[in-house]
Amino acid sequence: MALMNENYLNLAGSYLFAEINRKVGAYLKSNPGADIIRLGIGDVTQPLAPAVVEAMVSASREMGSKDGFHGYGPEQGYEFLRSAIAEYDYRKRGIAVADDEIFVSDGSKSDVANFQELFSGDCSVAITDPVYPVYLDTNIMAGRSGVMNNGRYEKIVYLKCTAENGFIPAIPDCHVDMIYLCSPNNPTGTVLNREQLTRWVEYALAEKAVILFDSAYEAYIADADLPRSIYEIPGAEKVAVEFRSFSKTAGFTGTRCAYTVIPHTVMVSDGNGGLHELNQLWLRRQTTKFNGVPYVIQRAAAAVYSDEGRRQIKEQVAYYMENAAIIRNGLESMGWELYGGKNAPYIWLKLPEGELSMNFFDRLLTKAGVVGTPGVGFGPCGEGCFRLTAFGERNRTIEAIERIKLNM
Ligand code: MLT
Repeated sequence: MALMNENYLNLAGSYLFAEINRKVGAYLKSNPGADIIRLGIGDVTQPLAPAVVEAMVSASREMGSKDGFHGYGPEQGYEFLRSAIAEYDYRKRGIAVADDEIFVSDGSKSDVANFQELFSGDCSVAITDPVYPVYLDTNIMAGRSGVMNNGRYEKIVYLKCTAENGFIPAIPDCHVDMIYLCSPNNPTGTVLNREQLTRWVEYALAEKAVILFDSAYEAYIADADLPRSIYEIPGAEKVAVEFRSFSKTAGFTGTRCAYTVIPHTVMVSDGNGGLHELNQLWLRRQTTKFNGVPYVIQRAAAAVYSDEGRRQIKEQVAYYMENAAIIRNGLESMGWELYGGKNAPYIWLKLPEGELSMNFFDRLLTKAGVVGTPGVGFGPCGEGCFRLTAFGERNRTIEAIERIKLNM
């Protein structure tokens, strides 16, 4: 019989959001017709911007014409989208990124999950705790975690984020090869400032480590002093790969388009000390395993950078941030201790002393009919905390807060 990849045996039973869906499904089965407000998974609710839809329709028409038909596209994305990304998201903001350092994909989740393949199975990995589960799970699958001991994988370096350090990870006191950072952070909604990010870049330069920087939520940064890209920090172009997405910026969760930035200057070494560009390794990987994002979707993504598109997208982000303010204000008026929600679409609640997050999940669901995400699902340090998303519809978000005020 074929042998399995036994690393899978080290994984927790199911993926966090699949488990939440299972629990909500079971609740609805025994309470048919219950009116549930979902503020759990960070899925957007506003329709695609008109400029995006127009581009999608027009590209679909093109595809139906002899001259406009497109078959396989370049695996790393069409030039029109790569150059719009590099120009608007980087060069116009004073960051030198070349078009061929942009790789278009079908989502940041898949990019951040797949990217670890480029590193040796022996590389050491640092993740924050709590953490977006994909970073950890994919390294477990690849055999970099070791086994679980007292709630911790033996080979993973955990960067504890708690109320005591404001949910900001401290630099490790040991060497690591791969560091996952997410800013604005999912799940805590906190953002690394320039000084904090500089320390990470200095650490990575000194340790010859690579930072895998997830900035899928950068559009939610309102404070002009906070860095939106790791490449705002000098030296980051030698040590960092940046993951970005149209999902949360432009409502593409169901449409699927994202990109990864890999400067030519980020290197890894082989066993003989030979240096290799991560950019070229990823190109090799993508051309082998990926056939590109559909033309229609890439045209839609490019429309995000038109004058109209940029204005419309800004309005969408402002809509969700207004939701975040509604959640924050409502819960603060109840005396809750909160993090995030100012430069991020996630609000992270500190639960009353002693309350377990899974218990709060159940109470919130059964008493208020509101779904959130238990902090423990993001790691042991998430215990005692709870995440709400600002991606709901306005009236449902208002209602959720009213229900929480009445019932919790
Ligand atoms: C979340 O709720 O954490 C996000 O939706 C996850 C994701 O973007 O994959």
